[in-house]
Order: sequence, then structure tokens, then C-alpha cells
Amino acid sequence: MALTIGIPRETADGETRVALIPEVAERLQQSIDGATVQVEEGAGQGAYHADADFEATGCTVTDREAVFDADVIAKVAPPSDDEVQRLSDGQAYIGFLDPLNRPETAQALAERGVTSLAMELVPRISRAQKMDALSAMSSLGGYRAIIRAAERLPKFFPLLTTAAGTIRPARVLVLGAGVAGLQAIATAKRLGAKVFGYDIREPTREEVESLGANFVDLEVDIEADQDESGYAEKLAEEKQERQPELLKPHIAEADVVVTTALIPGQPAPLLINEAAVEAMDPGSVIMDLAAANGGNCAYTEPGETVTKHDVQILGPTNLPAEMPVHASQLYAKTIAAMIEEVVEEGTFTPDFDDDIFAGACLTHGGDVRNDRVRGLLGLEEEEKV
Ligand code: NAI
Repeated sequence: MALTIGIPRETADGETRVALIPEVAERLQQSIDGATVQVEEGAGQGAYHADADFEATGCTVTDREAVFDADVIAKVAPPSDDEVQRLSDGQAYIGFLDPLNRPETAQALAERGVTSLAMELVPRISRAQKMDALSAMSSLGGYRAIIRAAERLPKFFPLLTTAAGTIRPARVLVLGAGVAGLQAIATAKRLGAKVFGYDIREPTREEVESLGANFVDLEVDIEADQDESGYAEKLAEEKQERQPELLKPHIAEADVVVTTALIPGQPAPLLINEAAVEAMDPGSVIMDLAAANGGNCAYTEPGETVTKHDVQILGPTNLPAEMPVHASQLYAKTIAAMIEEVVEEGTFTPDFDDDIFAGACLTHGGDVRNDRVRGLLGLEEEEKV
């Protein structure tokens, strides 16, 4: 039987993205012989793709039930309980699954017999770069963070010389110079701000400087190792505790602070304490991109904007959803690449000898397959077949 790929309408609050866009769906149907993409009515609406656009590229637009009957279901946001219950034995599910924060979803998927692939678990190897949905979304987030901050800041970003006087450029400090942080730095530079970047991974110094920003040197060197995929290792507790104090004078001088510091599977490190917020100028802006993981600022409330000591603190949890056209375009490409990776001769084919499948596989054959998630669920590590 020819492969069917189901694209449900996203139901999470504020989710505007869609897992495949018409152009990418069309290419996928051509690259996988006989495959048909079944899209739920209205699935593309939030990203400005009408049902008719999907139909024009050979997709079938249908109801939710039919979409959840497909061989492979692809989504953006992790599945709701209702969505998990719609899945059954032998089906494949591909999307963000937030596995380290929602191990219970993994357990529920395993109980349903679903083979699920988490886009967060795609290994960071060069062959898998085209499936790196996290980086694609982080990049959008970093850009959007600066646009939002610029809109909020009661000041110009660039240096301006006018007849009425000279305006000094805004100072933007970016804490955490991974994918999102580097994009924030590049965007702030383009808007003309004076930009500073900071990270605990030493290799980021060169990346920050190559964007024309200044790397912040703390009085005491706080450096972390990075693992083989480039992620920072957790700092020793004593170093972690000193960080906010050491960062405070740099934060105090900034008009905008964008924070992106994360350690996978850990609560976000505290970088901005109450005293540092108090030391900032009134009207300053903090954009905390680590909000969903507890935030890098003591005052952050996920999904909210709070004002403390006249400083505006924003804790957005889904910035890519504010740019659904490009977010869906990039995400769709990573999803299509993933589907192509796991389909052999027109059939979904689990292959644990494939690094990418083995790395991304969260559940299969009734079991949770990822050791970290097994650990969170209190299950023992298992022998992989
Ligand atoms: P992330 O979103 O997990 O973390 C963001 C940043 O926060 C990281 O740069 C991390 O070093 C920093 N950070 C953590 N704790 C901190 C602290 N206490 N203070 C200051 N900064 C702190 O990571 P992201 O952005 O997804 O990736 C990190 C790096 O991984 C990239 O910059 C890149 O070097 C590498 N990478 C490798 C890929 C590959 O295919 N090989 C693909 C994408 C990224």
C-alpha cells in the first residue's frame, strides 16, 4: 500500500505553524513513489496556506480522523493527550516532542505502540543538518527577539547624528551565544546597536567577534566544556552561583539583554538576578528566550511581560510562531528530510543501524527507546537491538 503522510491542524495555544507547506509536500510526493500527503482542513491557515494551495500540489485535504489514520503523522507542537489517543500500533509520528520535559508523552506514545521520532533528538552530525529543526527555529527566535526588543525599547538602536543632537547607539547584551544568540547578535548589529555577546563555551568568542560584536570577559573566568554535539556541559554549582554577580555590571550598562542560555534537560541557569534588573536603566528590556525552561532572569514569567524596577521583562515561549510563514517553510524542509530518511522503497522502515533514526527514535515497539527519557521515567537503560 502506498505511504500516507498525515498533517494535522495544530491545536496548541498560539501555534500558527504547519508541519508541511504545499511546495515541500509536493516535492515529498515526488521523491517517495506513490506517497500521498493528507492535510487536515485549515491546517495551513495560520501560516497563510489555504486548503486549495495544498490541493493544487496534489495533497488530499480531509478531516482530522482520516489524517490521524495515515502511516506517518507529522506535527509541529508535541501531541495533546487527545492526539496521542488517536494514534495506534504501527503508526509513525514525527515532530517536536519535548522529550526531556515531557517524558510522560513518550510513555503514552510507547503504550500506544507508536514509533515516534523527536526532532529535538536528531543527532548533531553533518549528515543530519538538513533535519536540524531546533537550529532552524532558534535562528528565527533570535531574530524575532531583537525585533520585539527594538519595538519595546523607548530608544533608537543606531547612532544618529541630527541637527537636534547626537543619539548614542543602544547597547545590546546577548547572554548565550548558540544558534539563537548568534542570530540575535547579527540582527542587533544590522539595526546599528553596540552589541556584546557572552557564553561559557570558549569557541563562541570567535563567533561573537566575527559578527562584529564584543565578547564579554568576566573578572573570573567561567568556562564550560562542550559535548561532542556542541552543547554546553553543566557548570559546577559554585561557578554557576557566581555568574549573576559577575554579569551584573555588564547587564547594568545594557539597554537590551537577550538571554538564550540553556543546558539540554536542565532548568535554565540563572544569569540575571533581582539586583541586576534593579541596576538597569528604566525602560530597558530583557528578552528571556529561556522562559519555557524556567528562564535566565529571576523575574521571568513564561509567556508574560512583567515590569520590575521599570525594566520590561518578556518571556516569550514560541517566537517562531510569530513568523509562521518562514518558520513553517524551514520546519517543513526538516520534516521532509526526516521522512525521506526513514522511508525505504515507499515504506516507513525503522532502522536502528542508521545514526539518525536511532538518535531521534523516542518510542518503538511499545518501549521508550531514549536512555535519558527512560531515566526520567525511572526505567532502566535498555539494550538496543
Ligand atoms: P542551546 O540552545 O542548548 O544553548 C544556547 C547557548 O547557551 C549555548 O551556546 C550554551 O553554551 C549557552 N549557555 C549554557 N549555559 C550558559 C551559562 N550558564 N552562561 C552563558 N551561556 C550559557 O544550544 P544551541 O544554540 O542549540 O547549540 C549550541 C551549539 O551547538 C551551537 O552554537 C553549535 O556550536 C552547536 N551546533 C552544532 C550543530 C551540528 O550540526 N554539529 C548544529 C547546531 C548547533
